[in-house]
Amino acid sequence: MNWQSLFEEHLRELDVAMVSVLETCAEQQMSIDTIVFHAGRLASYHRDDLEIPFRTHPHFLRFAPVRGPDHLLVYRPGRPVRLLRAAGKSYWHAALPALDDWLQQNLEVSECEDPVAGFAQLGDLGACAFIGDDLETADALGIPPGHCEPAALLAALDWQRATKTAYEVACIREAQRIAGLGHAAVRRGIAESHSEHRLHLDYLSATRQLDPELPYPNIIAWDEASAVLHYQHRRSDAPAPGRSFLIDAGARCNGYASDVTRSYRGMNPGADGTGSEEFRALLGGMESLQQDLAGEVRPGLDFVVLHRMAEERIAKLLCEVGVIRTPESEARERGLVFPFFPHGLGHHLGLQVHDVGGQQVDPSGTLRAPPEDCPHLRTTRSLETGHVITIEPGLYFIPSLLEPLRAKGQPDLLDWKLVDVLTAWGGIRIEDDLLVTASGGENLTRPHVPGHLQDTP
Ligand code: GLY
Ligand code: MN
Ligand code: MN
Repeated sequence: MNWQSLFEEHLRELDVAMVSVLETCAEQQMSIDTIVFHAGRLASYHRDDLEIPFRTHPHFLRFAPVRGPDHLLVYRPGRPVRLLRAAGKSYWHAALPALDDWLQQNLEVSECEDPVAGFAQLGDLGACAFIGDDLETADALGIPPGHCEPAALLAALDWQRATKTAYEVACIREAQRIAGLGHAAVRRGIAESHSEHRLHLDYLSATRQLDPELPYPNIIAWDEASAVLHYQHRRSDAPAPGRSFLIDAGARCNGYASDVTRSYRGMNPGADGTGSEEFRALLGGMESLQQDLAGEVRPGLDFVVLHRMAEERIAKLLCEVGVIRTPESEARERGLVFPFFPHGLGHHLGLQVHDVGGQQVDPSGTLRAPPEDCPHLRTTRSLETGHVITIEPGLYFIPSLLEPLRAKGQPDLLDWKLVDVLTAWGGIRIEDDLLVTASGGENLTRPHVPGHLQDTP
């Protein structure tokens, strides 16, 4: 990858984009000459001297993919981006690692023991705005509270982050490739019925990324646990029985994320195999509808409309398999789809796995809330060329969402016997990341992670 030229062009485009960011601020009576990004400070766990793993915040990473507490980044339109690396002088920690040449050449880098003193050397920077969560540092830099994370600036930055430069797309592509290594290792482990714990280690080893480096905690779940949307455990016992499996795991490159989910049938459908055929039909149906929805991605598409299409297709599938017994046209208005698909179809992706700006309709921060009946839809914005979004329909048997329906006393809306059988199979989610291009959508994930395989991998 030619990071040197990609990053050089990225900074050039960012400079152009920042002009409109600062104009948007000026229209809202916020005049800014310089933006100071503070990477954040090291924090410890409560009443402990153990440090919480440090993460540089995404607005900083966009200008410089450099990790390090107390680093400062100074942006002024038309000037080279300045990076002040806080070296400290503690013998408890290793010295700062050298930066790659492509960073060193494109940024004006200096090291300082104390970032506040280093900042003072920069002279008069005009009206500064501060992006970071440490107000003590802002105060020490002499930036008044009214210029700390001003709402107008944050909204304009968030809005603008949705449109990726070629460098950002290259980072997201590379994050797919790395995630692909992990998913391949896990597929091999599923075939041998490895535990969740072991599969997680297989994933880390194949991607060479450790937990704190991942874009989000891996979800690695056998059987019923695959219906827990953010399942957080990693059981070390062998799956019992090992009917079904779900992995939602990504990777990072220069701070940018991939976000990839696959569902599989396991090696053991249980003693009598009940539900096996229905689960197979649901898995095949979900793969096919996920691909169809991904095929709809194009500039100008209202993501709420695409979410509605997902609901319709999932209702149809549940009717075909016999779970829902009403006509499919009535399923949603009778409230039968949400309990099976209780999250949004997707979200913007970038430096954060759930990237910012997905519910904005303009750079000044006007929001479009999701419809009341799909409150967790994170993207309500129309898609534009250069956006990266996930397409991740899901279908789950979640007892806490289904029980209220059973209690409603309308026993014939669902085939409850089948629901009970399929509850043991958990859930299904299939998730790819797509780049919106002028001619439609490019699936960034599929070249690295194959789609659902009808049987065990
Ligand atoms: N991995 C989190 C999500 O898919 O949104
Ligand atoms: Mn996602
Ligand atoms: Mn995911």
